[in-house]
Amino acid sequence: EIIEADGQVLLPGFVDLHTHLREPGREDTETIESGSAAAALGGFTAVFAMANTNPVADSVVVTDHVWRRGQEVGLVDVHPVGAVTVGLAGKQLAEMGTMAAGVGAVRMFSDDGHCVDDPLLMRRALEYASSLGVLIAQHAEEPRLTVGAVAHEGPTAAKLGLAGWPRAAEESIVARDALLARDANTRVHICHASTAGTVELVKWAKGQGISITAEVTPHHLLLDDSRLETYDAVNKVNPPLREATDVAALRQGLADGVIDCVATDHAPHAEQDKCCEFAVARPGMLGLETALSIVVETMVAPGLLDWRGVARVLSERPAEIVGLPDQGRPIEIGEPANLVLVDPNASWTVTSKDLASISANTPYESMTLPARVTATFLRGRVTAQAGHVRKRD
Ligand code: DOR
Ligand code: ZN
Ligand code: ZN
Repeated sequence: EIIEADGQVLLPGFVDLHTHLREPGREDTETIESGSAAAALGGFTAVFAMANTNPVADSVVVTDHVWRRGQEVGLVDVHPVGAVTVGLAGKQLAEMGTMAAGVGAVRMFSDDGHCVDDPLLMRRALEYASSLGVLIAQHAEEPRLTVGAVAHEGPTAAKLGLAGWPRAAEESIVARDALLARDANTRVHICHASTAGTVELVKWAKGQGISITAEVTPHHLLLDDSRLETYDAVNKVNPPLREATDVAALRQGLADGVIDCVATDHAPHAEQDKCCEFAVARPGMLGLETALSIVVETMVAPGLLDWRGVARVLSERPAEIVGLPDQGRPIEIGEPANLVLVDPNASWTVTSKDLASISANTPYESMTLPARVTATFLRGRVTAQAGHVRKRD
């Protein structure tokens, strides 16, 4: 079989540290199978499926199921993320050791959808995780500052009468966890950085020698709060879309390596949960199938990253952060062929009904985006080609 690659770019397969696949619990919005298809089409060879499922992934029963089902589907390695606590925002640490020792070999824990807000519990979680050699990914949102909130206190939110979601909700937790990681001599990972202040704090912490890493989503690199003017709930996301100055700071932070990587926070939702009033709609946007194009639009086109940089932020750094042995390597002789072939000159128009996701909540509907995944290879096998998934025979 011959795959034409004239004028194309070959990169290591993408690794997404932050994906919501909704299985178990909300298979009407995404399954491991449909999410794996979206991932393969987006150029991913590994994704980390977040713990806010139903039941919550706070036990080895759930985390092992997620891994096994992903392997059965065979389109992408679906790594389970375990919950830090029993139940999200729980008061008791989950049995991280048991989940880490399971076939799912959990390497990362997060209470995504909730932040570990008790500082003493977070300190104990960091120490426990460190003793196991696993990572805590903190969803930095101080809950006492985020009640009912959909946007920060900026001008657009005020004009629309939307309740404020202050920057301090994110930044206070980033600062706190940087200090907790310093004192406990452990690593911590910050999910979906969204403010200029977070970029400054992560930069400061790294300058102090603290082991902190951070991710940014494609949507926070492209969209700002002017989007909220339409009141369309497709733009509702946690953390919220911020101001254009934040977008600029996030792009620069990613270019400089202060922000380590891009993670999608792919968050499928049913139509009835998105086509209602802004205040009651669920937060979250699709991201897997559009991530590369948004990175090209926001980082490559303005000259902030070259293709080497794309390999770094979408593959090598995320794989390093979680210590994946066979993913995200620079392309070297003898490496497993986890690869993605990209046409940098292609462009395409996003149509939600053509996406592999069960849900349709893309904020990029009808937008024409640059660059397209031509083929994805998982350990040498083609998992997606020319916009079609290739199931195992
Ligand atoms: O907007 C979001 N939705 N942000 C998150 O981190 C969670 C996610 C979800 O699960 O829907
Ligand atoms: Zn989150
Ligand atoms: Zn999330």
